[in-house]
Amino acid sequence: MPEPRVVSGMRPTGALHLGHYHGALKNWVRLQSEFPCFYFVADWHALTTHYDTPEMIEHSVWDMVIDWLAAGVDPAQATLFIQSRIIEHGELHTLLSMITPLGWLERVPSYKDQQEKLADRDLATYGFLGYPLLQSADVLIYRAKYVPVGEDQVPHIEFMREIARRFNHLYGREPGFEEKARAAVRRMGSRKAKLYEKLRTAFQEQGDAEALAAARALVEEQQNLTAGDRERLFGYLEGGGRMILVEPEALLTETSRLPGLDGQKMSKSYGNAIALREDPEDIRRKIRTMPTDPARVKRSDPGDPLKCPVWQFHQVYSDEKTRAWVNEGCRSAGIGCLECKQPVIDAVLAELAPVRERAQMYLDDPTLVRNIVADGCEKARQFAQETMREVRDAMGLAQS
Ligand code: TRP
Ligand code: SF4
Repeated sequence: MPEPRVVSGMRPTGALHLGHYHGALKNWVRLQSEFPCFYFVADWHALTTHYDTPEMIEHSVWDMVIDWLAAGVDPAQATLFIQSRIIEHGELHTLLSMITPLGWLERVPSYKDQQEKLADRDLATYGFLGYPLLQSADVLIYRAKYVPVGEDQVPHIEFMREIARRFNHLYGREPGFEEKARAAVRRMGSRKAKLYEKLRTAFQEQGDAEALAAARALVEEQQNLTAGDRERLFGYLEGGGRMILVEPEALLTETSRLPGLDGQKMSKSYGNAIALREDPEDIRRKIRTMPTDPARVKRSDPGDPLKCPVWQFHQVYSDEKTRAWVNEGCRSAGIGCLECKQPVIDAVLAELAPVRERAQMYLDDPTLVRNIVADGCEKARQFAQETMREVRDAMGLAQS
């Protein structure tokens, strides 16, 4: 059985910053050595909101891949590609759109939220409404188990689970499913077949979730099954049809949240960001001038770290000892704000030095990046095509 796959994407809408690094990229880097990971540039998704500035997208695509590589994403471990180059994502999106109730899309919270937040753009488009469905195609096409995303994306993962379930329910019911499933059970060998039946009964009659997990594991470790039989056994367990599309799970990033320089969410459009490849002198200046507790007007005024965005940086970058020094020094006016910021400046610069160095290597040789992406696309496409053959088949679109 192949290992569980990880899929995640990012929209190319400008240079990546420290918020992306701490919120997502560090997690990607960690995951790449644990699972087969597919990371892609979601350029179609960028068009759902930025359809009127295509030149920005075109430029950001390559910059973003360089940022990923600079941050430590390793093309020898992870598969890196561009969404629009794997045309099958678009095909699956179209096919899934046939079975997607409009109400499901309208109910996704980001639909109304983003329309309100980005009120200067006309987002009353078909593409924008379909955002979560396109995202579903991105993930389902690789039959991914895990999707590392931020909290705000959890409803999208919930949505794709429902789509996968609906798909399997509608199209996983091949003629003679029950008989084929029972034949597959027998092929497990009598001891394992008995255990499978016992666990299946426990789940179906008592809703025993542990039994379900155990039965799934049993099927996963079974060596001699065809892919079709394996899907039947998964589907038979839960009483549905063949499991053609896999329901993915969100993998929430536990890394600490790094806010922007003003304490708001870090975002280029708020002007409170530090870019990954920002010039060190600019980084120094930005941190030196970042706001502090407004009550500390004079050096002799005591402050409260809880009212200061610099403190949030210390939470991410400083050890316990430094944090204690800040806490005492701030509350007693024992240290000045510039003094307090110095360890943060040092830590950010130290963190970004190797990032900048790696980025330079890729900037000096653009063919390196092109080749990495070409290889990644080819690999991703193979997985995508395999899934599409089954999807087409299930939907009456077989080629022969
Ligand atoms: N919607 C994601 C975001 O805004 C980007 C994205 C597109 C994505 N397709 C995806 C993330 C598939 C995970 C999986 O961050
Ligand atoms: Fe903020 Fe540090 Fe100044 Fe206190 S001393 S207000 S924590 S910058």
